Amino acid sequence: MHVALTGATGFLGLRLLRELLTRHDSLTVLAHSGGACALRRITRFMELTGAPASLVEELPRRLRTVDVDLGRPRMGLSADAFQELADELDVIWHSAGNIKLDDALVNLRQVNVEGTRTVLELAAVGVRKPVVHHISTAFVGGARRDGVLYEDELDDTHGFENGYEQSKYEAEVLVREWSRVHGRPVVIMRPGVLVTDLPPHPDLPRHPMQFIREAGQSWLPEVTGAMSHGNRPVLRMPGHPHGHLNLMPVEHAAAVMVQLAGMPSSGRVDTYHVVHEHDVSVDVMTALTERFMRVQVKIVDEAPEDPTPLEAATDLYPGFMAYLKHRRRFDDTRVRTLLGPVSSGIRVGVEYLSSGLTTKATAVSGTGAR
Ligand SMILES: NC(=O)c1ccc[n+]([C@@H]2O[C@H](COP(=O)([O-])OP(=O)(O)OC[C@H]3O[C@@H](n4cnc5c(N)ncnc54)[C@H](OP(=O)(O)O)[C@@H]3O)[C@@H](O)[C@H]2O)c1
Repeated sequence: MHVALTGATGFLGLRLLRELLTRHDSLTVLAHSGGACALRRITRFMELTGAPASLVEELPRRLRTVDVDLGRPRMGLSADAFQELADELDVIWHSAGNIKLDDALVNLRQVNVEGTRTVLELAAVGVRKPVVHHISTAFVGGARRDGVLYEDELDDTHGFENGYEQSKYEAEVLVREWSRVHGRPVVIMRPGVLVTDLPPHPDLPRHPMQFIREAGQSWLPEVTGAMSHGNRPVLRMPGHPHGHLNLMPVEHAAAVMVQLAGMPSSGRVDTYHVVHEHDVSVDVMTALTERFMRVQVKIVDEAPEDPTPLEAATDLYPGFMAYLKHRRRFDDTRVRTLLGPVSSGIRVGVEYLSSGLTTKATAVSGTGAR
């Protein structure tokens, strides 16, 4: 069985690749940054996360790279090369994406929607009818802030918190439609926000919540210094006092996804919420912000009309802060029905999250390193 993976150099893709290497002798990496660079990044990830030396040595033999740009027609390949690639494949994992919540919709669509369209075209023309495993997000649920979201739901009536959600929603619509028109099976995996306790490193992909640490490191001390005299300044952040968010350890998410891929298919679209069994309360997010930004956070209903200079300068990550108002849950009955309880045993709290945002002077450690 021959498997290809897009986004293999990403935060999730690297973990998916590591899991897939435990099941397949060789894989094709559809590399955005060029084959040599992708191989170097993958090798570095394996080294930093404690992969056996034998695995690291084998990577050049086991990984074939094909240079692609999902934002271009046929991924930037010639018609012949595109067909040749398609004909070799039995499975395509599509993990590449633009995850910048606040990017312009046109940029997000180019990779998340048009890139997905191109992956589906590749699958459509392959003689071996490769199965597509599409990495979506639980956040296709959009701006619906409470209630329960089910795995078979896909609905845009509540709108979206940001362009990223919208582009991922549009990609799922495309995937479902493709499956219907072509009569082909597709597996859609929807993770919650992916996190790790593996400390940041210049050679590793960026942690999705790194913005919290950066805000505390860069411009913020100047602002807080100017307005505080010893005490921590108060930062009023719009949210819900009972808000909660699903944060899923990325290593566990990858393991669950690869397990799900091995499950019997319905022959149509199988959608799974790959989420942590416990949500993280808004208090954890508050404590994390206080730790890294040296402020005192007060959750308020709406953005203050009289913002302090600090508050005026603090839109930590446009597109993310709306999630402090969320109280919805992602139902993962389909996953648990197939796999049984899928607990990672990891408690995602302030210490776990802090570890993933704090550079260590010594070697990388954490449950994410193995
Ligand atoms: N991170 C999360 O919290 C989260 C949560 C839910 C769902 N997801 C989904 O999980 C998937 C992976 O996310 P991630 O966290 O791994 O993102 P990431 O760390 O930003 O990685 C994105 C990957 O996509 C590749 N890529 C970007 N533009 C490309 C293009 N034009 N052509 C080909 N490849 C391209 C990147 O390659 P280069 O690095 O070489 O550019 C990289 O390998 C995405 O579909 C995302 O929507 C992520």
